[in-house]
Amino acid sequence: MLSAVKGWLDEAEAFAARRGRPLVTLSYAQSMDGSLSLQRGQPLRLSSPSTMRLTHHLRALHDGILVGIGTVLADNPRLTVRLVRGAQPQAVILDSHLRLPLGAALLNQPDRPPWIATVESSQNPRWQALAERGVVLLSFAADSLGRVCWQELLPALSERGIRSLMVEGGAQVIQSLLTAALADQVVITIAPLFVGGLAVLEQPLILGQGLGFPAIERVACQRVGEDLVVWGKLRYPDPPPAQNVTAHAEDSVAS
Ligand SMILES: NC(=O)c1ccc[n+]([C@@H]2O[C@H](COP(=O)([O-])OP(=O)(O)OC[C@H]3O[C@@H](n4cnc5c(N)ncnc54)[C@H](OP(=O)(O)O)[C@@H]3O)[C@@H](O)[C@H]2O)c1
Repeated sequence: MLSAVKGWLDEAEAFAARRGRPLVTLSYAQSMDGSLSLQRGQPLRLSSPSTMRLTHHLRALHDGILVGIGTVLADNPRLTVRLVRGAQPQAVILDSHLRLPLGAALLNQPDRPPWIATVESSQNPRWQALAERGVVLLSFAADSLGRVCWQELLPALSERGIRSLMVEGGAQVIQSLLTAALADQVVITIAPLFVGGLAVLEQPLILGQGLGFPAIERVACQRVGEDLVVWGKLRYPDPPPAQNVTAHAEDSVAS
């Protein structure tokens, strides 16, 4: 699996130059029933020690690693590569309204402070407090839900030298990244247990006209300890020609 990912990432520089954004790997651990954790805001260790080490290897292959503020508040992660030898990727947090606590573990790494992507400006009183802790704050336009807009964020990361980005979740970040059709490849750890908890996707994915779903091309898998690791490149449905939308929809209902 690592050699496949290394192969993909060999393309990252050319990809970023061509597309003006980093190559994005979506990676997370889920239970057999597609749960990310027991419930929102509660951490649940799903990866075994072997797959956790694999995750650290994966992180070290990327220039940047991104999570949503929900994950930071729930898990207080360090997002390091401490289990392996390798370069530490730049941590990026999607935090529209600067909710990152000043005591977060991510702020205890003075040599590599995180970047925060926000929709706030330096007028927000928390901006200065975070800047004083070494955090780099990047302000973006809000999307239709008032959150950081992926289409603005990714080119800005590319301009700052992030050619490959690993996105680790959580649920809302995975939902919005796939909806924006901006994850290029996935590496998913499946732990052999049933949880019935927070679902990876909480709503149906509506892409464009909603007539298709992202699919993994040439899906591959490998058993690592007791876990299963599944990976591949993502293919998104082509947006249908506007005049054919109704006809397609009627076809699929009929079949
Ligand atoms: N099993 C795994 O691999 C794994 C990995 C990660 C997390 N988790 C679990 O997942 C849970 C956290 O997931 P979550 O859904 O609550 O939070 P999340 O996806 O980590 O973060 C969501 C928050 O990020 C902010 N955000 C800013 N821009 C966004 C955008 N464009 N799209 C989406 N979110 C954006 C929003 O908060 P603002 O509006 O305040 O900015 C949003 O509420 C925890 O229980 C954690 O343990 C599991």
